[in-house]
Amino acid sequence: MLGSTRPGRNGEAVARWVYQLASKRNDVQFELIDIAEYNLPLLDEPVPPSMGQYGKEHTKRWAAKIAEFDGYVFVTAEYNHAPSGALKNALDYLYAEWNNKAAGFVGYGSAGGARAVEQLRLVAAELQLATVRAQVALSLFTDFENFSKFQPGTHHEPALNTMLDQLVAWSRALKSMREQSQLGTVYQS
Ligand SMILES: Cc1cc2nc3c(=O)[nH]c(=O)nc-3n(C[C@H](O)[C@H](O)[C@H](O)COP(=O)(O)O)c2cc1C
Repeated sequence: MLGSTRPGRNGEAVARWVYQLASKRNDVQFELIDIAEYNLPLLDEPVPPSMGQYGKEHTKRWAAKIAEFDGYVFVTAEYNHAPSGALKNALDYLYAEWNNKAAGFVGYGSAGGARAVEQLRLVAAELQLATVRAQVALSLFTDFENFSKFQPGTHHEPALNTMLDQLVAWSRALKSMREQSQLGTVYQS
C-alpha cells in the first residue's frame, strides 16, 4: 500500500519495487494499492469506524478494497517523524477490515522511515493488525540519487523477502483464526 499522496512522491518508485519483488513469489498474490486513488477526504463519517456503520460511498469503496486482503505491506514516508497524514487518515477510516490480519513495513527517509514505522506499529495495535518484526529501511541518502531517483542497495532485497516471509506466515495463521472465530466482528472498547 502506497502511503504518500504528494505530487512527485518518492513513494511510487518504492511501492513499485516492493510490488515487483513480491510478485515473484508463487505462494501468494499481491496487489498495489495507492491510497491517492481513493480520494478519501479527512475522515467524514459521523459514526466511529469500530461501530461498522459506514455511510459514505468513498468509505464503502475503501472498505471493500481493504476487506479483500489477509495482509498488508505499508510503504511509508516519514513526515515530521510520523507517517503521512493521508496514510493515518486511510487507516482511521476503517476498523473491522483491518482486524486480525498481518502487516509489514517498508519505510524511507533520512533514518529509513524508522520513526514513522514505529508510530504505525502503535496505530496497528489498536486496529488489531499484527505487525511483523522484519522491516525494510531505505535511506534517502544512499538509496536515492539526489534524494529523488530510487536506486536501492542490493542488501534490501533479502530484507524485503524476510519481511514478506513473516508477513505471509502470519497472514495465513490469522486467516485461519478468523475463519474459526467471530473475533473479527466483535467491538471491544
Ligand atoms: C512535510 C514533510 C516532513 C518531512 N519530515 C521528515 C522527517 O521527519 N524525517 C525524514 O526522514 N524525512 C522527512 N521528510 C523528507 C521525506 O522523507 C522525503 O521528502 C520523502 O521523499 C517523502 O516521501 P514522498 O516523496 O513519498 O512524499 C519530510 C518531508 C515532508 C514533505
